[in-house]
Amino acid sequence: MLKLHDLEFEPYLDQHTLQDSIKHLANRIHDDYQSQTPVFLGILNGAFMFLSDLMKNYKGNCEINFTKLASYAGVSSTGEVSTLLGAGNLKGKHVIVVEDIVDTGNTLQHIVDVLKKEGVASFKIASLFFKPEAYKKSLPIDYIGIEIPNKFIVGFGLDYNGLGRNLSEIYQLKSNTND
Ligand code: IMP
Ligand code: MG
Repeated sequence: MLKLHDLEFEPYLDQHTLQDSIKHLANRIHDDYQSQTPVFLGILNGAFMFLSDLMKNYKGNCEINFTKLASYAGVSSTGEVSTLLGAGNLKGKHVIVVEDIVDTGNTLQHIVDVLKKEGVASFKIASLFFKPEAYKKSLPIDYIGIEIPNKFIVGFGLDYNGLGRNLSEIYQLKSNTND
């Protein structure tokens, strides 16, 4: 059992499950980018742990960059997004956006809208987690690690109001507190 602020969480996915899925994703991406040097663009803060393990398993040449935007407060998406910070010059690059989780897809849509204006050569999207029941966009997500039900999770980079990012396993909100 885990308590973060006012909420209780229970174990959901262990390290082995996460690492298996990440290794599989790294190989799939490498198969698709054999002759290219993609730029992995991690979305901070949530994607730092996923991107780190993804990169340890990626066999080819690649660049790594991070960008930040804030779109989330509490346990449901606010739908608000800010600008893409510090992404550097992506013109002409093959970009792979690396997200921790795609929920409604609002954040992702914003990133993609910005990327299109940056003149990237191509872009694809990789997300460790995807909540198909919550997704409201039509944008395809090219690389999905694990599909999960519409429940709030923490750990492995994901937080609940700032806490829980350091956990090496995934916890989910306890059922009796998840409406
Ligand atoms: P979206 O814009 O609704 O797709 O939400 C995307 C962002 O919300 C993610 O990058 C996370 O930061 C956050 N988020 C969505 N679902 C969860 C969750 O279950 N736990 C923690 N953060 C979440
Ligand atoms: Mg995030």
